[in-house]
This record gives sequence, C-alpha cells and structure tokens, in this order.
Amino acid sequence: MKIYNLKHCIDWLGERIPVNLQDLKALTNEPVPNHLKHWWYALGGTPAILFTIQIVTGIFLLFYYVPTPAEAYASVQNITYEIQFGWYIRSVHKWASELMVVTVILHMSRVYFTGAYRKPREINWMIGVVILFLTLGLGFTGYSLIYDQLSYWAAVVGTKIAESTPWIGPLAADFIRGGPEITGNTLTRLYVFHVVVFPLLLAGLVGVHIIFVRLHGVTEFETDDDKRQKHKTFPLFPNHVLTEGIIAILILYMLTIMAIMFPAGLGEQANPLVTPEHIKPEWYFYASFRWLKITNVYIGVLGQIAFVGIIILWPFIDRVMENKFPKAEMSVWIGILGFSFYLALTVWEAMV
Ligand code: HEM
Repeated sequence: MKIYNLKHCIDWLGERIPVNLQDLKALTNEPVPNHLKHWWYALGGTPAILFTIQIVTGIFLLFYYVPTPAEAYASVQNITYEIQFGWYIRSVHKWASELMVVTVILHMSRVYFTGAYRKPREINWMIGVVILFLTLGLGFTGYSLIYDQLSYWAAVVGTKIAESTPWIGPLAADFIRGGPEITGNTLTRLYVFHVVVFPLLLAGLVGVHIIFVRLHGVTEFETDDDKRQKHKTFPLFPNHVLTEGIIAILILYMLTIMAIMFPAGLGEQANPLVTPEHIKPEWYFYASFRWLKITNVYIGVLGQIAFVGIIILWPFIDRVMENKFPKAEMSVWIGILGFSFYLALTVWEAMV
C-alpha cells in the first residue's frame, strides 16, 4: 500500500489549486507600519477584528433569536438565562459592538490628526465616513432587536427623528417602519438591516478601504528613505499577521472579562402603551440626542445633516483652508474643538 506523506498532500493540492505561493507572497507582502513601534497605526486593524467577532457571535445568536414582536423578547430571555453560554455570546456580541464604535472613532481621529485624509486619500476618507455610519447603523438596529422597554422606545424616538428630516423624512421613516407606526413590519426590517444589509455593505466597504490603503501605502511611511523605512515598517508575513493575531487574542480576553463582569442585561418587555420616564439610546448617540434636546427639532436635524456633509467633504474643505492660511494648523484646532463638543454633549446627556 502506498503511504502518503505531507509533501504528497501538498503536491496533490498544488495540482488542483494552481496558485504559486511565491507570486502570492510577492503580491501581498508589502511593508506595513511596525505596530510595535507605532501602536496608533494598529487602530485600523482593530475594528476589523471586532467586526469578525461580531459576525461569529451574531451567527450563534441567530440560531435562537426570533424576529417577531410576540417572541423577540422571550427569545433574548432564553439566550440570556437558558441556553448554555448564551449570556456569554450575547455579552461578547454587545461589548464587541461598543468597542468597535470606540476603535473606529479612535482610528478616524488618528487619520484626522495626522492629516492622512489629504490628497490622494480623499476617496478613502469618504469611504471611511460611510463605514462609520454603517457601524452606528448596526448599533442602532441591533439595540432595537432586544425588544425591551428601552430598546423599543429608542427605536420609536429614532424613527421620529428620521421623520422630522425635511423633504425625505416622512418617506424614510415609513420605509424604516414599514408603515406609519412601529409594528411587526418594523422589527422585520430592522432585523434584515442588522443581519444582512449592513454587515454585507460593511464587509464590502472595509475590503475596498483596505485595498485603497494597500494601493496608496500608509501616509507617514511613503516619503521615508530606505533606511528609515526598514526601521519603521515590517513585512506583512509573518510579523504583521502575527501581531494582528496577538491583538485578536488580547481583544477576546478583554471581551471575556467584560462579559463576566458586566453581562448584557435585559429590562422589562416592550410595552407600546407605556412610555418610560427616561428614554436613552446607546451612549454613542447621546451627543446627537442632547443636541436635539437643546435645539428645536428643525435646527437639530438640519444641523446634524450639515455636520455629516462637512465630515464627508472635509478633505476638500481643509484644502481650501490650507491654501488660504497655510501656517495656521486650522484643521487641528477645528478637530480638537469638534471632538470636545461631541464629548461634552455625551457627558451632559449621560449625567441627566
Ligand atoms: C471598520 C472600520 C475600519 C477599518 C477596519 C479600517 C481599516 C484601516 C486600516 C487597516 C488602515 C491602515 C492604517 C492604519 O491601520 O491606521 C486604514 C487606513 C485609513 N483609514 Fe480606515 N478603517 C476603518 C474605518 C475608517 C474610518 C471611519 C475612516 C475615516 C472616516 C477611515 C479612514 C482611513 C484613511 C484615510 C486611511 C489612510 C491612512 C494613512 O494612509 O495613513 N477608516 N484603515
């Protein structure tokens, strides 16, 4: 009888999958910023790891979650208190989503304060802004699926805010709700957005985003001479892949501690007839919520639409400012001001 060894197996596979590993390595193995020396360049990979964790834990949750108003709450109760390790999977999913928002904001701040959105990376910045809003959209739709009082009323308020947008508001709100009121249709829609539409869009856009990063190279390292490049970068295989692997293990460890210490809770079942005293969205919407409270709905909504427009078009606005006041470092001051304003509104809302 013929005995097959590892080399035979590799040759067998090689004949059937004719990819030349050396070619593949040459194509992908470009130098990457040395994450051990410049940790802030690791902030971009971190949301990708968290997104992967959310997809895996999300698939497990889907085995038990039932997206109907009559059964949604009971199914979350079942996951949390009955299913073995259900509480753990649910808590890791929840904490990974919150950490993803934090790391996306931190990565975006790194990009902003290093001016990495400037030519030729304007389009990648704009893709990043869409990624940010998809991440927030995942958070909003996921929170609504729990169907306890707070999550139900956060969805009611969220769709009411969407409704007050001039011109397209009523149409957009009807589309999200599947009619003029929150019904079973709404839950189905939020569910489809949360488990299919947003994850697919996000996965596709993150792919395009990273291809752009590879095509442009990372900002700070492109103009360096060879000697400094060697010092500041390391190869994708094995150094970068191993570093990301270690970061992934540390993140899992951290999420486990958070899940044990602060497991995902569950309030009272949603009751469309009883409005809770305090309606709170997820913390990352606190600033937007507070802003709407201190302005009137019209200025509040229009102000936020203008804000989104400014972030998307920031690379071009910045360019005009740079040409007019080349030495003023205005983008840095505007960034610090904008970030402090967001933080102040968030803390204000958290305290009431
Ligand atoms: C799931 C979310 C995201 C992932 C997985 C991701 C991934 C990455 C990675 C791996 C890099 C390489 C350098 C680094 O790690 O710092 C990068 C660079 C970049 N990202 Fe992101 N990113 C995300 C969100 C965003 C957002 C929200 C923005 C801005 C609004 C953005 C804008 C950029 C830009 C302009 C670069 C090029 C920076 C440079 O060349 O120095 N990204 N991103």
